[in-house]
Amino acid sequence: MAAQHTWSIVETTAFDEVARDNPHPRLRDLRETCPVMRDEPVKTWFLTRYEDVRDTVNDRTLWRHWKNSEEGALLRRMDRDPDEPGTDSILSMDEPDHSRVRLPLAKAFYARINAMKPKIEAIIDEVIDSAPHGEPFDLIGEIAVPIPILVIAAILGVESERFREFREWSEASILGLNPLRTPEQTELMEWGSAQLTAYFTELMAARRAEPRDDLISDVVALQAAGAPLSDDEVRTNLTALLIGGNLTTTDLIGNGVWLLLRHPGELAKLKADPSLAAAAVEEILRYESPVAITNRVMSEDREVGGCPMHAHQSVITSLHAANRDPAVFEDPNSFDITRKHVPHVAFGGGSHMCIGAPLARIEAKQALARLFQRFPDLKLAGGEPVWRALPFFRGMEALIVQG
Ligand code: HEM
Repeated sequence: MAAQHTWSIVETTAFDEVARDNPHPRLRDLRETCPVMRDEPVKTWFLTRYEDVRDTVNDRTLWRHWKNSEEGALLRRMDRDPDEPGTDSILSMDEPDHSRVRLPLAKAFYARINAMKPKIEAIIDEVIDSAPHGEPFDLIGEIAVPIPILVIAAILGVESERFREFREWSEASILGLNPLRTPEQTELMEWGSAQLTAYFTELMAARRAEPRDDLISDVVALQAAGAPLSDDEVRTNLTALLIGGNLTTTDLIGNGVWLLLRHPGELAKLKADPSLAAAAVEEILRYESPVAITNRVMSEDREVGGCPMHAHQSVITSLHAANRDPAVFEDPNSFDITRKHVPHVAFGGGSHMCIGAPLARIEAKQALARLFQRFPDLKLAGGEPVWRALPFFRGMEALIVQG
């Protein structure tokens, strides 16, 4: 038998140049040879089989907060100092706080998205319609970046005269996702977050005095009606909607357009039958998901995938590897927008399942439909894409196209 090489977790991420361009071959190796891997130097388990990943993310008895994980665990090292003051967002809250904050927030958010669907679609159409015709342009910068920022601004109730600043603050605070940021970028990030906090404080006061038709008014009304949410929790979680939603939706649109342009047969199917847009979005989420992993912390000693794990050990689940597991997806490395059943785990699962999934789906579906309607001859106009060096995410720096 050939000697087997086991990849470290870091070697499967965008930290590593080879995995940055294409993480899938290394993830396949791991799934085939070491599907439940202990990466001792970073004190973390790494799961690559669909069944193990799905069962782990769906398990509501596990912890989420990295502060429960052992010293030296990879994600614990990458996050802020546990002694630093600050409120956690739902992303890292455990029970009972997680449900206390997430349930009212999700209820208000989903009602807003439903009520605003036509407005959301109109914003997307407007962005796409203003992209240049007949000359090369960067799809990421011109279309995929502004769409989620303008949409979430409208949902929250940001005044149009503040859009430009809001975009600057949002982009600055997203630098927080990059553990390799420079000291200057950290400074910019801190500035962006402070500006957003101040602005949300101002908006919450304004909407308490005079409610409008927006999510901030809905949330302060919930507080007034007795929902147990502190002002800090509201601000932190409104910011989490920006941080969680912007880059990911940008990458869903960018990766989707790239995949369709690289698979003309699939694009032809979509053009012939635009009602396939929703199915195309699910296949993009399966095949090249914007978020590579999620994580949990063991809350007790337990066996996972046949391996003994201990309480406080950190577990990273590879959503990318799970989504290409041949045990679940036939011919998993082929991109096929007419797959019948696509139970991908791109949005994670269980109590932490992505709160923005319905919004991401609306945005990506509308963006693809409108883009190929307005630019029926859209083609790639640059060389190979440059993938972003941001670990645990998958998206392009730029995608030059021409329509
Ligand atoms: C485009 C695609 C998106 C992808 C692939 C994605 C992926 C994910 C994943 C994998 C998780 C962790 C789930 C888990 O651990 O089980 C998550 C959580 C979250 N996402 Fe998304 N997301 C996307 C879009 C959005 C949008 C549009 C928003 C908000 C507007 C958002 C906000 C959040 C928040 C707040 C959480 C934390 C939820 C919790 O822990 O309770 N995401 N997302």
